[in-house]
Amino acid sequence: MKDKVFKIIEKELVRQTEMIGLIPSENIVSPEVSQVLSSCLSNKYSEGYSNKRYYEGNQFIDEIELLAIERVKKLFGVPFANVQPYSGSPANLAIYFALIKPGDTIMGLKLSMGGHLTHGHPKVTASGTFYKSVQYGLNKNARINFDEVRELALKHRPKIIVAGNTAYPFELDFKKFREIADEVGAWLMADISHVTGLVVTGEHMSPVPYADVIMSTTHKTFRGPRGAMILVTDKGFERDPKLGSKIDSAIIPGLQGGPHNATTAGIAIAAGEALKPEFKNYARQIKKNATALANALKKRGFTLVGGGTETHLILIDLTSYGISFGTQAAFAMDVAGMYANRNTVPTEQGSPFYPSGLRIGTPLVTTRGMKEADMDKIADWMFRAIEEVKEYQLPEDKKERRVFIKKFRSEALGNENLLKIRKEVIAFTKKFGLFGW
Ligand SMILES: Cc1ncc(COP(=O)(O)O)c(C=O)c1O
Repeated sequence: MKDKVFKIIEKELVRQTEMIGLIPSENIVSPEVSQVLSSCLSNKYSEGYSNKRYYEGNQFIDEIELLAIERVKKLFGVPFANVQPYSGSPANLAIYFALIKPGDTIMGLKLSMGGHLTHGHPKVTASGTFYKSVQYGLNKNARINFDEVRELALKHRPKIIVAGNTAYPFELDFKKFREIADEVGAWLMADISHVTGLVVTGEHMSPVPYADVIMSTTHKTFRGPRGAMILVTDKGFERDPKLGSKIDSAIIPGLQGGPHNATTAGIAIAAGEALKPEFKNYARQIKKNATALANALKKRGFTLVGGGTETHLILIDLTSYGISFGTQAAFAMDVAGMYANRNTVPTEQGSPFYPSGLRIGTPLVTTRGMKEADMDKIADWMFRAIEEVKEYQLPEDKKERRVFIKKFRSEALGNENLLKIRKEVIAFTKKFGLFGW
């Protein structure tokens, strides 16, 4: 008899198939990526790099890793790539470890304004503890406040400026970041985890001419396995010809042990897929869908942070429904068959745990083949689901909240209108097959 785990996986596949996935950092890998992830490559230990391993029997692993590196370099037009980081968070730490000393200053976008934890979020993170962290924010139009970036850079003289985003719907202007980095002699590190798929297809400004080092996860718009890659640009090598070997050493022995070889193979396949012309159409459609979804939401009265999107991502400000309404909205959507994530908004009056916004995106639904007209349907289901629970307002008294959430959830789970939307969503998703096992 098969292990119980397979039964649970079957349920997860049904969940993914019957629901509309709107989390902007999620995607669906191709059958080939999925196949190599469960291959015999997982059986092998390969500490080190190609032709310099600490273990025997790596001749084919070497071939795979070299292929992944070659494809990634070609895709981005960079002279160096390391494809071994286990994920985006250790990759960012590896870059800091390679470039600066503990106690040096790094500067990144505030988490509450769309930055990532690993960009120096204070106190609770390694990047905010081992390094002195300065954080910049957004202007009143919800765009990166370059006056503030420059002012803070001149005042604090960071060693690294991080240009990256996790909940910022607009294009990152790497040229402007470069100018400021040059003024203060800082390294410019671009974290393009969210927008890699758009960058390699020309749908987003490329950091390659401007940044010294680039990090990207491989599982978001890139549509590969869960992993990450670190790239060094010509600019980076001009400043330090040893940058590549410093990055390699920061990964191993600095931070990691043996690479996840099946993931490396998945990155090679995903990079191969991204080199094909079809991927350009995919990236273009992600943006078209995001714009269509943003417009359809605005038509229904939703407030979007910054008024819309220039990427795959949309941040909805639900403050008009009530402070901290993100939790109720995300749960109502989930019951109705759509999953998103609650998120802080730049003018947040709630808290990171009970925020006032929703973060959504279109990479996954675009992979499933949905187009602009489908975005209108999704916006309508979202509107109906969120309106359905608008009377549920989080109590200010923290002690009352747990009871409230419990009651809200149980009532939402039995709400007939939400369940009706769910039925409509299930019928709709049947038209958009999803590969999985
Ligand atoms: C911009 C950015 N950097 C880094 C990460 C961390 O990646 P991981 O979750 O793979 O550690 C994320 C993931 O959310 C991200 O959005």
